[in-house]
Amino acid sequence: MKMKIILTLFAIVSFGLGVHGEPTSCETCHTRLKGQLSQPVAQWKTSIHHQMGVNCANCHGGNPAVKNMKAAHSRKKGWIGKPGPIQIVKLCGTCHADEPFMKKYNPNARTDQLKNYLTSNHGINIMKKKDGRAATCVSCHGAHDILKALSPRSHVYPAKVVDTCGKCHGNKKLMMEFGISGNEVADYKTSVHANALYKKHDLSAPTCNDCHGNHGAVPPGASSVEKVCGTCHVMNQKLFDESSHKTWDEMGFKGCMECHGNHAIQPPTDTMLSTDKGICLNCHEPGEPAFKTMKAMHKALTGLKARLGKTREMVDRAAEKGMLMDDAMLTLQDAKTSYIQSRTAVHRFNTGYVEHVAKTALLDLDKVNRMAKNSLEEVAKRRSLFYGFGGLLLILLILLGLKIRSMEK
Ligand code: HEC
Ligand code: HEC
Ligand code: HEC
Ligand code: HEC
Ligand code: HEC
Ligand code: HEC
Ligand code: HEC
Ligand code: HEC
Ligand code: HEC
Repeated sequence: MKMKIILTLFAIVSFGLGVHGEPTSCETCHTRLKGQLSQPVAQWKTSIHHQMGVNCANCHGGNPAVKNMKAAHSRKKGWIGKPGPIQIVKLCGTCHADEPFMKKYNPNARTDQLKNYLTSNHGINIMKKKDGRAATCVSCHGAHDILKALSPRSHVYPAKVVDTCGKCHGNKKLMMEFGISGNEVADYKTSVHANALYKKHDLSAPTCNDCHGNHGAVPPGASSVEKVCGTCHVMNQKLFDESSHKTWDEMGFKGCMECHGNHAIQPPTDTMLSTDKGICLNCHEPGEPAFKTMKAMHKALTGLKARLGKTREMVDRAAEKGMLMDDAMLTLQDAKTSYIQSRTAVHRFNTGYVEHVAKTALLDLDKVNRMAKNSLEEVAKRRSLFYGFGGLLLILLILLGLKIRSMEK
């Protein structure tokens, strides 16, 4: 209720509006119209703006208190009609960049959207170049059907962002005109990140705006878009920054992207370190120290993976034969974790370091190996005991049979 009073006051003071709650003449008349002229009313009724008392005239201007169209669409009353791209940005900014105003409705409201937007290539295209084909606020949010950004039905909800950006970025012809490939959307859809987001419903996996920022050129915490990977993959970034590749920036190389790409990121495999297809060969020649490092890391990782597989097989075999293998399973899990860490360790690009991390896994595997071996030996012992016993019993039975037969005779 208090909200409503404040909003009505705001509307009257800033926009000269009537009392909130009664349908305005804009609504009444436009509801009766067709297509593009009435759709805004239906859409607006579902929106956060309707809920907050933001009316047609707050955005379009005009006089919502009179029934006559000409008088309602009065330029003297600030009527702007259908706003163009530049007007849209200014319009949304009027409220959303006004911190004291926005905090009245939502104490946690951010008011940096316009400021950040103006630094983005979208903002520059619309406001500086006056080209008009890049995204304005409504290209991403809609004009009338705007919901809370976090609503699963909003156009900017993680699972929907790709389609929202894709309206333009999936249009190759349009993108080529700006020297952009237009493959970003198709590529992204093949990536480990899209797979995690769509198939595993893992909302921590990035979609377009997590890497590019909602409004600005890059998200907070990252100095440039190439550095964005490290905001989530913290350990990989840390190791990379300590490696002999830490000078890449100055040389114009683009960090993680050089080896993993940016949109079509695939699950990494040991092939990335193989002597014929290794990723290192993009920059290093066979014979260089880097080539030796690649080969040695490949050997360490593939060796560890093979040991992990064999040991797991032994544990499974013992468990199948009825042995209690809980301890071995736990240690095996530790070894698996260390194996994952040794793949991360690659990012120091140093053989010694990978071998050092892999060693923890190898020691665990030795332990598991011993446990599994003991268990399998125990199985064998019990079996020979069982057969020994069985054999003895059989001989006794035969003797007994012979005895009975001789007695019958
Ligand atoms: C009596 C009916 C009537 C009333 C009242 C009315 N409109 Fe309209 N409006 C129309 C019609 C008819 C059109 C389409 C013809 C035109 O653009 O002149 C239109 C067009 C528009 C357009 C599109 C203009 C464009 O350039 O495409 C907007 C925006 C709009 N109205 C907003 C409003 C707002 C805001 C109010 C209230 C302040 C309002 N209308 C009041 C009938 C009305
Ligand atoms: C939050 C601001 C906002 C509110 C509130 C709002 N509009 Fe709009 N409206 C816009 C913008 C921005 C556009 C231009 C959309 C575009 O270019 O895609 C627009 C476009 C229109 C159009 C032109 C549609 C077309 O496709 O040609 C009409 C008609 C219209 N609005 C009527 C209304 C009516 C009636 C209301 C109230 C029920 C209303 N609007 C409420 C921002 C708003
Ligand atoms: C390129 C697409 C795009 C453009 C252009 C855009 N937004 Fe957003 N906006 C987003 C995304 C994505 C989110 C956040 C969704 C999330 O938090 O997951 C967002 C969130 C918001 C929010 C919710 C609060 C917040 O900051 O998280 C507001 C308010 C908002 N935008 C207003 C605006 C305004 C005003 C403009 C124009 C100056 C604008 N947006 C331009 C994509 C865009
Ligand atoms: C008359 C003032 C006003 C205008 C103009 C206005 N808004 Fe809003 N908007 C609000 C208020 C008030 C809220 C509710 C505050 C909140 O929920 O944070 C809101 C909420 C939103 C939200 C949801 C914010 C969230 O927290 O998720 C988005 C997105 C948004 N507006 C986008 C726009 C866009 C895009 C435009 C321009 C077409 C626009 N607004 C124009 C006042 C306005
Ligand atoms: C209305 C169409 C449209 C929508 C929607 C749109 N974009 Fe764009 N975007 C463009 C255009 C056009 C350019 C090129 C602008 C220029 O260079 O003048 C651009 C440029 C970019 C750039 C800069 C590329 C470069 O290096 O020059 C990025 C990054 C980008 N958009 C990301 C996004 C993301 C992420 C979304 C969704 C959240 C999105 N865009 C939604 C049209 C759009
Ligand atoms: C995992 C992070 C990440 C995700 C997710 C992501 N991008 Fe990118 N994007 C990047 C990086 C990194 C660059 C390269 C920047 C550079 O080269 O300086 C880039 C470049 C771009 C460019 C410029 C391309 C060019 O040819 O100049 C556009 C446009 C773009 N992305 C749009 C999108 C869209 C649309 C989506 C969603 C479908 C998306 N991106 C998802 C990280 C990402
Ligand atoms: C918003 C956080 C976030 C950002 C930013 C991010 N990622 Fe990811 N990444 C994830 C999540 C979550 C997964 C999925 C883990 C899973 O389900 O396997 C993932 C998976 C991966 C994988 C596959 C790992 C594996 O074991 O299969 C690679 C490689 C990867 N990301 C590289 C990158 C690169 C390169 C960038 C920057 C261009 C980047 N990521 C940006 C969160 C992020
Ligand atoms: C010089 C090439 C190179 C660079 C640069 C690089 N990586 Fe990797 N990355 C690899 C290789 C090789 C593997 C796979 C090792 C294997 O499985 O044999 C890998 C594996 C991964 C994995 C899966 C293993 C894990 O750690 O969970 C992730 C995630 C990953 N990289 C993220 C990143 C991020 C983030 C960056 C930037 C900080 C980055 N990479 C930079 C070569 C690189
Ligand atoms: C994008 C190009 C690029 C890729 C890909 C690349 N490197 Fe490098 N690497 C460099 C550059 C440039 C230097 C020299 C840095 C300096 O001198 O400051 C370097 C240096 C090194 C060094 C230090 C010793 C030396 O030769 O100077 C090692 C070790 C190394 N890289 C290993 C690797 C491994 C292993 C891979 C693959 C997983 C790899 N690099 C992939 C560009 C690359």
